[in-house]
Amino acid sequence: MIDKLVRYVRKRVQWARCARALRDVHSVTEFHRFLQRTRMLAPYVTDAPEVSQQKRAAIAATLSAYDVQVTGRRVLDIGPGYGDFLDVCRERGALTVGLDHDPLVVRWLQLRGHIALRGNVLRSLQPLHAQPFDLINSTGSIIVEYFSLVGMGRLGRLLTQLDGHLSPGGRILITPYFEHGPGRVRKIRDPLNCPFTDTMRSAGYTVLPRIAGVHDDHMYPLTYGKQRPPANAT
Ligand SMILES: C[S@@+](CC[C@H](N)C(=O)[O-])C[C@H]1O[C@@H](n2cnc3c(N)ncnc32)[C@H](O)[C@@H]1O
Repeated sequence: MIDKLVRYVRKRVQWARCARALRDVHSVTEFHRFLQRTRMLAPYVTDAPEVSQQKRAAIAATLSAYDVQVTGRRVLDIGPGYGDFLDVCRERGALTVGLDHDPLVVRWLQLRGHIALRGNVLRSLQPLHAQPFDLINSTGSIIVEYFSLVGMGRLGRLLTQLDGHLSPGGRILITPYFEHGPGRVRKIRDPLNCPFTDTMRSAGYTVLPRIAGVHDDHMYPLTYGKQRPPANAT
């Protein structure tokens, strides 16, 4: 717990410095130089190409398994990291928006042509104003353990806010981070039957079919999905 707190405080200090300094970074090359100069931690930027390829393959498999069409659609990724999901969607013709609390992530995405906004989804979705989206995705940014600590009411409120940004007929995919499985403290023994999943179900989500190669990682065992009825639905 203490080490988590120390990491959090260190991160906040880094972010405050970083957000100011990033105003002078205007290209991807300058961004890389900035990382080297400041020794900022940006794990996803330095991911080996194979890691990014694996992630992109998993994203393509997910879109195909759940029959998600993104061409010409507005796509929001909550906690996009360095943008693999947004990149795949943009390559398929989507308009892409990322919302992340890490200023490095936001600047990186902006430099690569995505719309990227800075904000903490746990506080508010206000940076999005009233924008509706045809697809909202979140992979790894909703942390089950956090809601176990602060209460599932908070999760319910976040889900209601997300609903407010979904177009008629739009879909939401949420793949949360579970602290679960071998070698870790088993906070959640059975992801399918836990207060988090109960709250998701009460908010209208279903647990989507498991995809080999996507849900093998014990920290990401489930994807929840929900679709808003189309405007002409009776
Ligand atoms: C584990 S990474 C996942 C990145 C990417 N979605 C992927 O699948 O590779 C979590 C991302 O969510 C962001 N994030 C975590 N909590 C957040 C919050 N409360 N508000 C906004 N972004 C958040 C982090 O900055 C990071 O970019």
